[in-house]
Amino acid sequence: MAAALALGRRNAGHTWPNPAVGTVIVRTDGPTPRVVAHGWTDVGGRPHAEVRALAAAGEAAKGATCYVSLEPCAHYGRTGPCSSALIEAGVGRVVSALDDPNPLVFGRGLKRIEAAGIPVTSGVLSEDARRAHAGHIRKMLDGRPHVRLKLAISDDGMIGRTSEGQVKISGPEAWARTHLLRTTTDAVLVGIGTVVADNPELTCRLPGLLHRSPVRVVLDPSARLPLDSRLMQTIDIAPVWVVVAPDAPKPRMEALAERGAVVIPRLIRPGGELDLHDVLRGLSDRGLTTMLVEGGARVARSFLDADFVDEAILYRAPMRIGTGGIPALGGLDVDAVFDRPRFDLLRERLVGVDRMTHFWRAT
Ligand SMILES: NC(=O)c1ccc[n+]([C@@H]2O[C@H](COP(=O)([O-])OP(=O)(O)OC[C@H]3O[C@@H](n4cnc5c(N)ncnc54)[C@H](OP(=O)(O)O)[C@@H]3O)[C@@H](O)[C@H]2O)c1
Repeated sequence: MAAALALGRRNAGHTWPNPAVGTVIVRTDGPTPRVVAHGWTDVGGRPHAEVRALAAAGEAAKGATCYVSLEPCAHYGRTGPCSSALIEAGVGRVVSALDDPNPLVFGRGLKRIEAAGIPVTSGVLSEDARRAHAGHIRKMLDGRPHVRLKLAISDDGMIGRTSEGQVKISGPEAWARTHLLRTTTDAVLVGIGTVVADNPELTCRLPGLLHRSPVRVVLDPSARLPLDSRLMQTIDIAPVWVVVAPDAPKPRMEALAERGAVVIPRLIRPGGELDLHDVLRGLSDRGLTTMLVEGGARVARSFLDADFVDEAILYRAPMRIGTGGIPALGGLDVDAVFDRPRFDLLRERLVGVDRMTHFWRAT
């Protein structure tokens, strides 16, 4: 199952709106168990992992054990359900990590397989699977993407310096990990304040991975995203979605749309900020299941205040910003926020010279 989960991760960030699933098919009729085929959900969400693994296994699937990182589907989409494909292939046993929360599936996939006389085991490495499929679960249960917050914070609790553009806080190892994180998340989101201050590209610039860059989302109520920004200039590499207020200036919205940006009007709260609940529902309706929030300070604070942060990756750098610094979370005590009862610490380690802490919403 660990191998099935690892295979599923290969296309994480690229199968939306579908979950990224992995499958391993094992024969146990020889002297030792033998993997005869494996598969993972293809880019775009189809074909499913089981279908690819069964195709690779051919006749060897008969009587074999099929490990799947998520319950096989039971509904008819563009192709028949995977539960039927497994039955038709004559597999001898199915082991699943997690029941699919999709109301169209929820237990039906495994029940159908069991009804065909094939033994089924469910819940193997379920905790790992819950993390791997956090986006799919959040989308199905709450109609919003799973939100990861990533911030680089100086030793004195700052994330930048007023009117100074991008300030280098974390080191090259943390930079590389952030770019890797971008490739495994459906979309990356920033506020217009960060675009204006830093002019970021938000693509994945690790060698050979530019084409795995995520959708780039900007919270921009007044549609002021500059047409000559790096985001707009790299629109051929990865899509740019601009979330605006319903009354944003029409000529600005048209200019952005003409250059290829997707302009998404969402509700505004009394203070003039975009209503994050409505924003997230809108992004989920467009298919996104996971989202990496990369700042800045106001946006990070808003996501925390609205209790939408499910996971946080913080890099604490051994440097001070001092005078003119922008406090990371609008003045909130970072250590107090990322602690029990709200968050569990998953892991902590040095990444280059920066201390990385990885938190997950406490259950
Ligand atoms: N160290 C790091 O990890 C990191 C990462 C990113 C950015 N930064 C730094 O952060 C600074 C920018 O931060 P910032 O706070 O000025 O800007 P920001 O958080 O990037 O953007 C804030 C703007 O987003 C818009 N917005 C719309 N809805 C919102 C909502 N619900 N909540 C919050 N904002 C909403 C508003 O635009 P309108 O004003 O048009 O209404 C608001 O002014 C820069 O100095 C940058 O270098 C650091």
